[in-house]
This record gives sequence, structure tokens and C-alpha cells, in this order.
Amino acid sequence: MKNFTSINDVNNVQDLLQKALEIKQNPFGYKSFGENKTLGLIFLNPSLRTRLSSQKAGQNLGMNVMVMNMGQEGWQLELEDGSIMDSGAQEHIKDAAAVISQYCDIIGVRSFATLKDREFDYKEEFFNKFIGGANVPLISLESATLHPLQSFADLITIEEQKKVKRPKVVLTWAPHPKALPQAVANSFAQWMSKADVDLTITHPVGYELSEEFTNGVEISHNHDEALKNADFVYAKNWSSYSNYGLVSNDNSDWQITKEKMSLTNNGKFMHCLPIRRNVVASDEVLDSPNSLILEQANNRTFAAQTILLEMLRNEK
Ligand code: CP
Repeated sequence: MKNFTSINDVNNVQDLLQKALEIKQNPFGYKSFGENKTLGLIFLNPSLRTRLSSQKAGQNLGMNVMVMNMGQEGWQLELEDGSIMDSGAQEHIKDAAAVISQYCDIIGVRSFATLKDREFDYKEEFFNKFIGGANVPLISLESATLHPLQSFADLITIEEQKKVKRPKVVLTWAPHPKALPQAVANSFAQWMSKADVDLTITHPVGYELSEEFTNGVEISHNHDEALKNADFVYAKNWSSYSNYGLVSNDNSDWQITKEKMSLTNNGKFMHCLPIRRNVVASDEVLDSPNSLILEQANNRTFAAQTILLEMLRNEK
């Protein structure tokens, strides 16, 4: 695996899933693979889970780990080739990526969507420019359009928790006071489309995701109907794709409550976190025995460790 920016970088999803479950049973079993190797984690945006789970994953493999909050502590990056850098940005992305590559054997990068320029975001301009300048493998810690480490952890969680061979999984839009990227939802749809699950996506009219990620997936605007008999309910807010980055109305009735969960097949509740309690989902749901939010966060370590191990193995 050269880079990990989406599920398209994975040869065999089932094999990857089995490897993650094996690693979870024996987290220090591959400690020699990362000896004298350095993982660099570069964040242009805030993080709790991604930062700490990726750091732990690298350490479990025996790697040295360096973390930089580039958005706060680094130079502002210029992305345009040939630009005359006489205003805001102090450093070109190709110089930064090449320099970080000298210090690190694998680089993880987080750079969220602008939510202002859809073409820029959906062409993954930032990641592609960074990869263009880097000389070592790159792992996405969430890009403008995708969050593959989160989706891989979600797949692990569903595999561990499912009670039927092919569970019904519902990805539901949920309310939120601020405009959020579509990355988690896009990525979840992409991974679930390759998993042994029946996926339904439900959202209010106006919150359609890019067809690039939802092609062939059942989509419903009837929230209650979609939730019926669900084995897993994955809640996530996203802003509009068509009216890019905008939040059109309140839709507070889309909050996941105990009443909404009662429509399901004693379904499990999932969310990637962080979550705004009693906005996206009620305390009752989040603190219920059917909530998998902590299991998902825990599996972030083993998702990251599996991807890192794949990359380290390539080098051996
Ligand atoms: N789920 C997730 O990516 O969490 P952080 O933004 O805290 O890393």
C-alpha cells in the first residue's frame, strides 16, 4: 500500500478486516516492524481520536511518532505552482511535504474541506499537492471528502457487533448548529457499499451526498420508514453538497432519540464523535447499552495500526 486516502487503496477489504481483528487480539505482536521508523502526524485541523489513536497505533508497532499541529503552529501553506508568494502564505506545500518526508517514513495528514469551494474540495487539491511533494507513504487522517480510518474502524465495529450475516445499516443525517463536511458520510457510504450489509441512507431533501459515493445505495427522505428494522443506526450531520456548505433549515426532528431507536431491530447506535449531545442524539441513546460510540473510538487504534503495518511491510 503506497498511500491510504480511500478504500480504493485497499486490495482486499475482507483480508484487511481480518488482520485488524487479529491485531486487536495481540496489539504488540508486530512491534519489531516499526523499529527505527518514524511516523509524522500533521494536523491542519483539531482532533482528539485521530491524533491519539494514530499515535498509539504507531507506538504499538514500535515506531517513533512526531505530531505537529500545523494549522496553529506551522507556516501558512501556498498550494499554487508558480505563484509569487508576496502575500499570506510563507511556505509552499511541495517544500513542506518534501521536508517532512526527510524526517518521517510514513506521514499522516488531516486537512478538512473548505466548504466554500466544492471543486477544490472534491478534487482533493490539498492532499494531491501534498502527495505530489512527498517521497514517503501518506495516510489520510481525514481529507476534504473522505475519512477512511474512521470508516475502517466503523467496519471493524459492525463486524464485531453484528448478529446476522447481512445486517441492515442506516446512515442518517442528524441536526447540528454548524456546517460540517460530508467526509465521514461519504466515506461510510463508500466502505459500507463494499461490505456485506444492506445500506440505506436517510436525510432531509436538500442534503443529497455526491453520487460518486452513493451510487446504487437506497436513499430515503422518510426518516421513520428508513429506521424500521435497522440493526445499526449511524448518525452524522453533513452540510449541503448541492448548495455547497450550507445548512438550509433546522430539522431538529431528525435528532436520534429513544423513540426513533424504538423503530429499529433493537439497533445499535453509532457516531464517529465528537458529538453534540441532545442535538445530534439524546443522552438516553448515547448512554444506552446499545450505543457503540466508545467501541468505535477504541477501534480507531486497530484500524490505524493495520494500515501502518501494511505500509511497513511494503518496506521490508
Ligand atoms: N472521529 C474523529 O475523527 O475524531 P477526531 O476529530 O477527534 O479526531
